[in-house]
Amino acid sequence: MQIKEALRSILTDQEMDAMIWSYDRIGDILITTIPESMEKKENLIGEILLQAHPTIRVIGKRIGIHQGEFRTRELQIIAGENRKETLHKENGIQLYLNPETVYYSVRMAGERLRLAHLILPGERVAVLCSGVGPFPLTMAKHSKARLIVGIEKNPAAHSFALKNLQLNKAEKRVRFYQGDAAHILPSLPHQFDRIVTVLPTGDTSILVNCSLPSLAPKGILHHYTMVHQGNTQTMAEQIARACSEQEKNISTITSHRCGHCGPRTDRFCFTVKFS
Ligand SMILES: C[S@@+](CC[C@H](N)C(=O)[O-])C[C@H]1O[C@@H](n2cnc3c(N)ncnc32)[C@H](O)[C@@H]1O
Repeated sequence: MQIKEALRSILTDQEMDAMIWSYDRIGDILITTIPESMEKKENLIGEILLQAHPTIRVIGKRIGIHQGEFRTRELQIIAGENRKETLHKENGIQLYLNPETVYYSVRMAGERLRLAHLILPGERVAVLCSGVGPFPLTMAKHSKARLIVGIEKNPAAHSFALKNLQLNKAEKRVRFYQGDAAHILPSLPHQFDRIVTVLPTGDTSILVNCSLPSLAPKGILHHYTMVHQGNTQTMAEQIARACSEQEKNISTITSHRCGHCGPRTDRFCFTVKFS
C-alpha cells in the first residue's frame, strides 16, 4: 500500500494537508518531521512509515533546529529499533554516525563529490570543521590528493571520523585532528594547496583569517556559508576584506549555490583564488 493511502486511514483530511512529506534517510534511519498537532499519532505514523520502507529499521523525529557550536539537533525515536547510530553510504564511502550527537547532512553529498573532483593530483588539502569525515573521505576516494587533513571540535564527531578512517582504509592519506580549527591549523607543519571551511554560521572572517597563513602561494580557499535572500555580494565583500587585511591579492571570487537551509536562506560555496 502507498504511504499516503495507509496514512489516510489514521489521519483526518486536515492532518493529511499538514503532514510534511519530505524525509532524510541516513543509513537505516528515516528522519521525519511531525507537526505538533499530530504528536498523539506519531507512533502510529512511525509504524506506517516503517512498514512502507523495508530497509529502514528506525524512524526518528526531528526536534527543534540545529544549534550550538556543534550544530546538533535532538532526534526522538517514534518507531522501530531503539538506537540512533547507523552506517550510511555516500559517494562510495561508508560513514558511521549518530545524527543526534553530530552534524551530518545527506543533502551535501553531491557538493562533496563536486569538490573532490576539483582536487589536482599531489595536492595537500585541509578541511576545517570536518564532522564525521564526509569531505576528507570523499576526497580520498575520488582524488589523487597527497594529504587530506580534517579538523573537528566536537569530540563525538571526531571519534566517528577516526572509526570512518579505518572503515574506508584511508589512513595513508587522511589525518583527523580534534579541537578548534583556528588553533590546530596554524600548528600543522604544512601549507595547503586547498583549504575548505565548512562552518555555515557565525563570523565568516574567523575561519577565513585563520586559513590564509596556512594557504600555499596560489592556493585555493573554498568557504561554505549561508546567504540570505541571494545576497552573495555582501559575503564576497566580507571575504575580500579579510583577505586584503592579510595582504593577499585575490584574482577571483566565485560563488556556487549548493543547498537550501531555511526560509530564503541558501548554502553557498565561495571559491577564492589568489594571484
Ligand atoms: C555544518 S557542520 C559540517 C560538518 C561536516 N563538514 C559535514 O559536511 O558533515 C560544522 C561543523 O563544525 C564543527 N565546529 C564548530 N566550531 C568549530 C571549530 N572552531 N573548529 C573545528 N570544528 C568546529 C561543528 O562541530 C560541526 O561538526
